[in-house]
Amino acid sequence: MKPLTFACAALAAAMAVSCGQPVKKSFDGPAYLDESLPVEERVEDALSRMTTEEKVALTHAQSKFSSAGVPRLGIPEVWCTDGPHGIRAEVLWDEWDQAGWTSDSCTAFPALTALAASWDPSLAGLYGTVIGEEARYRKKDVLLGPGVNIYRTPLNGRNFEYMGEDPFLAATMVVPYVQGVQRNNVAACVKHYALNNQETARFFTNVTVDDRTLYEIYLPAFKAAVDGGAWAIMGSYNLYKGQWNCHNQYLLNDILKGEWGFDGVVISDWGGVHDTDQAITNGLDMEFGSWTNGLTMGKTNAYDSYFLANPYLERIRSGQVGTTELDDKARRILRLIFRTSMNPEHKTGRFTSPEHYAAARKIGAEGIVLLKNDGGILPLRGAKKILVVGENAIKMMTVGGGSSSLKAQHEVSPLDGLREALPGVEVVYERGYVGDAGGEYNGVSTGQDLSEKRSAAQLIADAVKAAQGADYVIYIGGLNKSDYQDAEGNDRQQYGLPYGQDAVIEALAAAHSKLVVVNISGNAVAMPWVSRVPAIVQDWYLGSEAGHSLADVLTGAVNPSGKLPFTFPVALEDGPVKTPEQFPGLPGDKTWESSFGSVPILEETYSEGIYVGYRWFEAKQVAPLFPFGYGLSYTTFAYGDPKVSKTVTTDGSVTVSVPVTNTGAVAGAEVVQFYVADPESSVDRPVKELKGFDKVFLQPGETKTVSVQLTRESLSFFDAAKHAWVAEPGRFDVLVGASSADIRGSVSFELK
Ligand code: GLC
Repeated sequence: MKPLTFACAALAAAMAVSCGQPVKKSFDGPAYLDESLPVEERVEDALSRMTTEEKVALTHAQSKFSSAGVPRLGIPEVWCTDGPHGIRAEVLWDEWDQAGWTSDSCTAFPALTALAASWDPSLAGLYGTVIGEEARYRKKDVLLGPGVNIYRTPLNGRNFEYMGEDPFLAATMVVPYVQGVQRNNVAACVKHYALNNQETARFFTNVTVDDRTLYEIYLPAFKAAVDGGAWAIMGSYNLYKGQWNCHNQYLLNDILKGEWGFDGVVISDWGGVHDTDQAITNGLDMEFGSWTNGLTMGKTNAYDSYFLANPYLERIRSGQVGTTELDDKARRILRLIFRTSMNPEHKTGRFTSPEHYAAARKIGAEGIVLLKNDGGILPLRGAKKILVVGENAIKMMTVGGGSSSLKAQHEVSPLDGLREALPGVEVVYERGYVGDAGGEYNGVSTGQDLSEKRSAAQLIADAVKAAQGADYVIYIGGLNKSDYQDAEGNDRQQYGLPYGQDAVIEALAAAHSKLVVVNISGNAVAMPWVSRVPAIVQDWYLGSEAGHSLADVLTGAVNPSGKLPFTFPVALEDGPVKTPEQFPGLPGDKTWESSFGSVPILEETYSEGIYVGYRWFEAKQVAPLFPFGYGLSYTTFAYGDPKVSKTVTTDGSVTVSVPVTNTGAVAGAEVVQFYVADPESSVDRPVKELKGFDKVFLQPGETKTVSVQLTRESLSFFDAAKHAWVAEPGRFDVLVGASSADIRGSVSFELK
């Protein structure tokens, strides 16, 4: 409408009202299309116009990543896309393979372990906003991410997609991400709900866990996302209490939709639906990726055979089931549509913008964790020649890893990033070891030729020789996105570095005093050489800007401020998960009659209970290699005495504050962590638990007071018998630290 016309219309309307005439509605179509109406009115109007067949069609896929809309009413299809780190390349209608588009090369953002390691909720908001813009621009309505499963064992192949071992950190970081995505009229689909903490036998493992552990450790990040307004949740493949989690009465109806009042949609994981009756009644709303019984995988008309397709229709037509559940599913899906593709805001997003690359670079650099820097050999300085060693210095990491694999518009390798950042320095390269020479996933190829003819011994000898005369040696290795490394579908088979890397590192440590080891991984790894290496950097899968982010930190352009989102144990057996019953589980007496045949369901017990991560190491007084929340800086910080706003409280709401000073020569950021201890509790509780943190940026010499607001929730444990959170009266201690193992002060107060 032209401005003048609009003004006339507005004037006419105003005059009509002043003369007492009813204002002519600006829209005379059906209510569901009236963008001035609230979503719920549009939902009810659309639902009232739909047939049973149309409602059923909404509840299941019509293609690999889309479900039907209502063509007759002009209600659009729902399009989903992976993944949590970037928008997956377009696939064929009914195949995982690529559609061969030329307009879908995306920005690859850092893996979520890196985001978690930044401990910066404002970066989580930036992350969600920019990835949401890319999803919207690619006309996707549901982003299948973020993943927030808790890091329970360092062997889980998908930990790189998640946000670490602590429920409070994950819960704090997931909300801004979700809200950032959704401000683009794109639904975040938080996954994998719940208890999907491994890849081994992920389709048929039944998890047994006590209620207190479920509520204190494995649910908080999901609950925070729902409380933060998430529009979608993805059910996980595994089972809980003997029910598949894509249609689980306990997790979906009782907890998610019941206790938490979730009004969004529950989307199955791809292939996670196994039964029509359970899918109808146990809280599932949208079925994707099924290879329904009796049909081969990927058969083009399989969609009509989906559990919520013809089988559902037949049950309704025969009167075997009513339409109450169907209307609830349809309402939720219509609500999703009016929040996304039919949202009056009509956002259009952006794709591979300079701002997106800048965000990727910033998040990556802020997530990198400086683990060791003896003699302050970092940041690099005064070098004329630097030797870079290791396959991970050149290997593309945006391809592979499973469903989060991407077709990135570009990916700056660590080697290229360093060369670009050090123009006057001779940067030479040696392979060091051969890891995964492949480079293709689901039809996306890296195009790299990583073939190598030299033996392992020759590669080491060549690297050691090249180290002579170099001012620095930077080893860049770790894991990668190939099977049995950091990848979906399988778990790691060892805690130590693969491909004989320890020998390469030992040889380089013996050959050169200024060795920097950069570990690229999404999981903790063993570091037997830790005492022989002066500088160690935990790098992550940082996506398109990986090389720039790493170079920014190694050169000092960015002062590292990341903190570990999970513990690095010295040895795997130091951790809480030790027995086959705990991981990966043992065959029980139930079988899964799958389209692959009869499969024994594994029974797995989380017998370590709430003692996951630092909770375990502190309870058992086992020293880790590097503790949760640990990370160094190129500057130093001093903490003053923490203060508490009151020494007695009746509702737990106290403010704890602490002055922090940058006592070094360069600007930097410190993540101040607040842990709560309950020394008088009637139940066993961890030594302390993270209940607050804040990242503070300080110029040299600058002091700021950091404070967090605790609440009754911060003091509570989950009482399974009462099925309620309980904060017991008595003394509480708040320990303020630079990591879980570096407490700089504490205060106490009493809860009356
Ligand atoms: C995969 C993953 C899930 C992904 C979905 C679609 O199996 O478990 O994270 O979003 O299927 O690719």
